Amino acid sequence: MSDALPEKQPTTEHVRVSMDAIYNWNYGSEIDSIRTLYANALDRQWIALKDLNWDRGIDRKLFSRTFSVAGIPLQHTQWWKRLDPDLKWRVASKTSAFLLSNFLHGEQGALMVASEMVAAVPHMDGKFYAATQTMDEARHVEAFAAYINLLDEVQPIMPSLKEILDKTIGCESWMHKAVGMQVVVEGLALYTFRDMRNTTEEPLLKEMLTYISRDEARHCAYGVKYLGFIISTLSDEEKADLEDFAFEAARLLIASRAGNSARDSMFAVWQSVGLDPMDAINAIRDEQEVVTRDVPPEGGAAGPIRGFVIPTLQALGLFSERIEGHFRQLFSINMGEERAQALEFAWELPENLEEWVLSSESAIRR
Ligand SMILES: [Fe+2]
Ligand SMILES: [Fe+2]
Repeated sequence: MSDALPEKQPTTEHVRVSMDAIYNWNYGSEIDSIRTLYANALDRQWIALKDLNWDRGIDRKLFSRTFSVAGIPLQHTQWWKRLDPDLKWRVASKTSAFLLSNFLHGEQGALMVASEMVAAVPHMDGKFYAATQTMDEARHVEAFAAYINLLDEVQPIMPSLKEILDKTIGCESWMHKAVGMQVVVEGLALYTFRDMRNTTEEPLLKEMLTYISRDEARHCAYGVKYLGFIISTLSDEEKADLEDFAFEAARLLIASRAGNSARDSMFAVWQSVGLDPMDAINAIRDEQEVVTRDVPPEGGAAGPIRGFVIPTLQALGLFSERIEGHFRQLFSINMGEERAQALEFAWELPENLEEWVLSSESAIRR
C-alpha cells in the first residue's frame, strides 16, 4: 500500500495535440442557448484573490470535523472523535490536499481543453463561450492552488486522471473533447465539488467551492447544449464513436486498478501521517449504523457516474443498449455481476444545473 502514491513528477510535461482550427466568417449568433450562456458567464465573473476572504485562513477545527472522504462520513464515528486533535488535522489536511491536488490538476486540464475549444469548434457562439470557460478555469487553478498552499502542499496527479486528460487534450475532434471534458470530467467535478461544498463547514473552502461550482454548472450546461445541438446531425457510427469515448473516460476515472485507485492512494496518505488504514476500516465496520445513517439514501448511493454522467449521456442520446452493457460490466467489478445486471439507471439530469449545484438535494430520481 505504501507505494500507491504516484512518483514525484517533473515540473513540465509535454503532450502532442493534433486538431484543426476553424475560422467562422459569420459573426452572427447561430445557437441562441449558447450565446445566452456566454452572456451569463460574462455577468458572473469573479476574482479569486479579491472576492474570497483569504485573510481568515483555514479554520483547522471546522476543517477536521467536516472533511470529505469520498462520501464516507468517517468523521461521525466515535473512533474518529476520540483521535488526538493533531492527528485528526494531519489526516484531514493530508487527505484533502491529495483530493484537492487532483481537482487542481483536473482544472489545469480543463483550462487547456477550453482554450483548444476556442479554436476547434465551428460556431462563433461556441468560441465565445469557450473563451469565458478558459478564463473560469484559470481562476479555478489559481484558487485551488492557493487553498492547497494554506493546507499542505500540492501532490502529484493520479495516473488514471492524467491518462484521461492526455487523451482529451490530444484528440483531434472537438466533439470528443466536449464529451471527455464537458460531460465526463466536468460532470464528475460538479458532482464532487458539490458534495464537498455541502459537507464542509470550513468557511473559506465552502465559499471557494460555491463560486467554483456555479462556474462548473455552466461548463456542464455548455456540453449538454452544444452536443445536444450537433448530435442529431451525426450518423449512427459517429454517435457510437462518441459513446465509446465517453465510456473510456468514465472507466478511467473510476478505474480501481491495483495501486492506482483513489482509495489506495488515500490509505498511503493516512499511513504517511501515522494512521493505520485498518483501524479506520474496523471503525467503519463497527459503527456501520452511524456511517450508513449519514449517507444520503438515494443520491449518495448513486455516485457521480450513475447520478450525473449517465443521466447526461442519456439526455444527449449517447446511452445505447450497447454502451449500457459496457457500463453494467464496469459496475460488476465493484458490486458483483448480479447486482450490476439488476441496476436501474433511474436518475435524471437536473433541469437548472446552477440551482441544483447550490442545493443540498442529491441526485434526482426519475
Ligand atoms: Fe473548473
Ligand atoms: Fe470546468
